[in-house]
Amino acid sequence: MANYQNILFENKEGIAHLTINRPDKLNALNIQTIEDIKVAFEEIYDDATIKGVVITGAGEKAFVAGADISEIAELNELNARKFAESGQEVFSAIENCHKPVVALVNGFALGGGCELAMACHMRVATANARFGQPEVNLGVIPGYGGTQRLTQLIGKAKSFELCMTGDMINANQALTLGLLNYVLDTQTEAIAKCEEILNKVISKAPVAIGLVIDCINAVSNEQENGYQTEANGFAACTKTADFAEGTTAFLEKRKPEFKGE
Ligand code: COA
Repeated sequence: MANYQNILFENKEGIAHLTINRPDKLNALNIQTIEDIKVAFEEIYDDATIKGVVITGAGEKAFVAGADISEIAELNELNARKFAESGQEVFSAIENCHKPVVALVNGFALGGGCELAMACHMRVATANARFGQPEVNLGVIPGYGGTQRLTQLIGKAKSFELCMTGDMINANQALTLGLLNYVLDTQTEAIAKCEEILNKVISKAPVAIGLVIDCINAVSNEQENGYQTEANGFAACTKTADFAEGTTAFLEKRKPEFKGE
């Protein structure tokens, strides 16, 4: 396992728990933390024993309170573009991962924190979670894909409002807007919900799950015809042993045993 500086990374019975670990700075994402997440996802892609991922923040107060403002303050036009592009690349690796990734949002998810949560396939929050894109308060805009993913998730009207006012919303508002899948009262309940979702997804045919991820992500790729991607994926599934197993098991009235082949 890699030597991480700002994250905790543990494979617990097939579910990787990735915890952003800078609680003194409300888990703000500095460049080293982005690098740690990048390496962790290389591990997640390569390690067949990892079947799903939970991303959360250390402590009780914050998921991630944004990109690290002390680093943002030093940026200029040249390195700011690279800064945004390298963060976007890491967040795309999360979004395109063929294993299910759930964010457990336990407090502030602001700026890059909201963007990190949105790069995950699903989001579960505790009741104290707060979401926002407050970059305009600093004279900048979201740079890790926030304008795009927020608009895809909640539509233009509310995305304009959040990105232009910098206002924060609470967990129930985020749930109503479609930014969240579930809100639970406590951290313990939220972790249990994440594990319940992941264990359910992990019990399905892994090739089909990876293709669902590709097809749903195709919605946001203008270069790609998502209907074509779906038809190709549908056809590809029929070549797998898991397709034969899934359909046979249904007809034989038994539970399928998927092997990821
Ligand atoms: N970058 C760097 N440091 C951050 C940070 C960020 N995005 N967010 C919080 N911190 C640091 C604070 O500077 C403080 O550090 P210090 O104790 O060394 O002074 C520590 O985390 C605790 O934050 P603090 O502001 O004292 O907590 P609070 O409870 O009063 O306020 C927030 C919480 C989230 C409202 C406030 O920290 C905040 O507005 N953070 C910035 C959010 C933001 O603009 N994010 C987008 C960045 S692009």
